[in-house]
Amino acid sequence: MSASDRLVEAARAARDRAVAPYSHFKVGAALQTTDGTIITGCNVENASYGLTICAERVAVVKALSEGHHAFTRLVVVTDTEEPTSPCGACRQVLWEFAPDLEVVLANLHRITAVTTLRDLLPLAFNSHLLRRP
Ligand code: THU
Repeated sequence: MSASDRLVEAARAARDRAVAPYSHFKVGAALQTTDGTIITGCNVENASYGLTICAERVAVVKALSEGHHAFTRLVVVTDTEEPTSPCGACRQVLWEFAPDLEVVLANLHRITAVTTLRDLLPLAFNSHLLRRP
């Protein structure tokens, strides 16, 4: 099994752990670090709705909290025929840590799209804008 296949499998397994009692829309994510480590996430919903956390942000926050800071690829898995792309909030959070990320979208059977975070977030808000002379 290739590294890429393992990442897709990890995202599918993470999706099974989604906590989505309100939307029933389960999402799994798997981030690959530069040293090949795989960190997964699933969406975790809340009765307040607004406090729901997406799978992608769970994965990146888990990774950072475990000391991983460099990422090469993200896989997002949902049970949809069309690609499910990360929401705007997740794109912005991922951008902060991995602007060169490859983003692979997949469902339970196949890869539905391959893109990059740079293509998903053109003219992104950048932290360097906060630095003043
Ligand atoms: N969701 C994600 O986890 N990732 C996405 O990229 C899109 C949306 C979750 C949030 C919520 O639990 C459910 O999917 C429906 O919006």
